[in-house]
Amino acid sequence: MPELSELRAIDAAEVPAYARAFAAVFGSEPDAHALARVARITESDRVLVGTAADGSIAATAGAYSFDLSVPAGAPIGCAGITRVSVRADHRRRGVLRRMLQQLHRQALDRGEPVAALWPSEVPIYGRFGYGPSAACQDLEVSRSSAQLRAPADPGPVELVDTASARRLLPPLREAVRAQRPGLVSRTVAWWETVLDEDPPDARDGASPRFHAVLPDRGYAIYRVHQRWTDGAPAGRVEVSELHALDPESAAALWALVTDLDLTERIVARRRPLDEPLWHLLEDPGRLRITGHWGLHLRLLDVPAVLAARGYAGEDRLVLEVDDELLAHNAGRFALCVEDGRATCRRVDEPADLVLDVRELATVVLGGFRLTALQAAGRVRSGTPGAALRLDRLLFTDLAPWQDGVF
Ligand SMILES: CC(C)(COP(=O)(O)OP(=O)(O)OC[C@H]1O[C@@H](n2cnc3c(N)ncnc32)[C@H](O)[C@@H]1OP(=O)(O)O)[C@@H](O)C(=O)NCCC(=O)NCCS
Repeated sequence: MPELSELRAIDAAEVPAYARAFAAVFGSEPDAHALARVARITESDRVLVGTAADGSIAATAGAYSFDLSVPAGAPIGCAGITRVSVRADHRRRGVLRRMLQQLHRQALDRGEPVAALWPSEVPIYGRFGYGPSAACQDLEVSRSSAQLRAPADPGPVELVDTASARRLLPPLREAVRAQRPGLVSRTVAWWETVLDEDPPDARDGASPRFHAVLPDRGYAIYRVHQRWTDGAPAGRVEVSELHALDPESAAALWALVTDLDLTERIVARRRPLDEPLWHLLEDPGRLRITGHWGLHLRLLDVPAVLAARGYAGEDRLVLEVDDELLAHNAGRFALCVEDGRATCRRVDEPADLVLDVRELATVVLGGFRLTALQAAGRVRSGTPGAALRLDRLLFTDLAPWQDGVF
């Protein structure tokens, strides 16, 4: 097996080659639209490529500069790891490990205390300290089973064109992000990929996007796949985003997308685990649910992340964190919570809980319970009741959620 000849940064002119090399490992080839999309959102100064002896690109990895919402605290800088690939003839020789080490170091140099990614396969990243932090679910229901318990009045919901969507949707998602941990920020360029880019040949036969808006309260983005079965309408609605700031707005938006003429099925992808649709439906038993592990986090600076979020209640716990890759993260830290805010300092005291940095990433946004990890043998040791005490501190009003893959 050949060795990489070099692992290096790229300049902007190499972004198409980076996109092609990544797509090839996934078994595809980007068309002009896909290349334009990658060029729009790629931060070329945050891309690494590994080159083979002949100069071709044999490995890729990049990062986006995100802000990540945390519970009851200001968003924190986050390296959104993306386009990770190692060509078949260079696999299993430690290239991914080298690329992640470099990207993590760069993130720390930029003052980002956390990295995030959405893995193609979950087992890849645990060994590098990533834990699933914000799971999500795809929901599917037939229109005839989608009766709402208290039918909402979707009257004030308006369908708006792309130009209006560009103006109305970003501030709404920002307002939702202020409440919901796990959501990452979107630049103008990201919004262009969500709203402006919509070539017919990339839609798999579906309609252009519709933007349904309740001004200042919420929005939904959806498409319709038109279909007819035996002369009867059998269209499918695909909801790609639905964000609302209050329950009435969520109900009104769901009422619109679940009762569109000429449609028969509704599919909503990557919904939060506390999705209100479950409880809006007369018969939630008819929902078909597919879970995903979703957003994975890697704590690059444990005390900085623990001190950034807000907490429920008051307590003091000493956490002993194992971190094989980042020595500055390993050791004992006293997490001291008063009035909902925490300090987190290195101490030399007996630990209440001993856990790997990956397990801390899994629970840090409040999406999973440490008691459940403990029951699965994933917490090395703990004084009686300590896992539950940490769970109580980490509890959040809303389940952490990231609404899209990056
Ligand atoms: C996944 C991938 C990036 C791994 O790259 P790599 O250079 O072979 O990884 P490394 O040699 O650094 O492997 C590091 C470790 O991860 C393990 N690993 C790598 N890929 C794995 C996978 N798909 N499932 C489980 N473990 C995996 C290796 O066995 C190795 O384990 P070890 O440290 O115990 O020896 C590469 O196989 C690839 O490009 N796959 C297809 C595209 C893809 O899935 N990319 C990820 C996008 S999120």
